[in-house]
Amino acid sequence: MNKSEQIVKTEEFVKANMKGYDSGHDWWHIVRVRNLARFINEMEALADPFAVEITTLLHDTADSKFAGDSDKAYLFMSEFMDENGLSTIRDQVMNVIKNISFSSKSARVLDDPLFYVVQDADRLDAIGAIGVARAFNYGGFRNNKIYDPEIISQIGSVHGTSSTISHFYEKLLLLKYRMNTLTGKKLAAERHEFLEVFLKEFYKEWEFNNISL
Ligand code: ADP
Ligand code: NI
Repeated sequence: MNKSEQIVKTEEFVKANMKGYDSGHDWWHIVRVRNLARFINEMEALADPFAVEITTLLHDTADSKFAGDSDKAYLFMSEFMDENGLSTIRDQVMNVIKNISFSSKSARVLDDPLFYVVQDADRLDAIGAIGVARAFNYGGFRNNKIYDPEIISQIGSVHGTSSTISHFYEKLLLLKYRMNTLTGKKLAAERHEFLEVFLKEFYKEWEFNNISL
């Protein structure tokens, strides 16, 4: 099997394994992350482009929020890679995927260019206009409140899933400070600015007093 056939096989595997995920984590999230990772890697020539393809494609197939037992999902992914001639990059790819998650307590920063590229790409898709759309989509999927004015959030505060607005302070507003690559940092700065514009407008509308016109 050549590399483009292996990519097609991997795309099929991913599509078959992401059914039941929310629409912010669907196939199009994978496509966006792949495009962002390709761009970052072209700008910085850090990682093997084929490994970038395979890792971005597989990066959410064992997400514990959706896949149930992620150990089983990792085993399944590892078997898939062995059966499709991807054994030589298997350990590197799996190691990256296991450590890119923002929310996982056990995740580590790896000293691997592949990790830098894929993590930046995944994080960029969580901010900017798409990030806002995904956050409210995920909040709706979990039936969380849009906003709870009784909870005052600050950057870094932890209120669990109290509201989607509080998720901005727990995660989204931190991401621009956590980018690995220069290209990732530049893209994140622009997307971060949009988050701030969005929040400003959100609070302005929330606090609207019914002034007679
Ligand atoms: P990671 O894969 O880095 O752990 P997540 O899977 O937690 O990231 O997040 C993926 C997407 O879901 C992001 O767009 C994120 O903002 C959104 N998301 C995760 N948790 C919440 C939440 N509690 N409320 C709103 N959006 C969320
Ligand atoms: Ni992802």
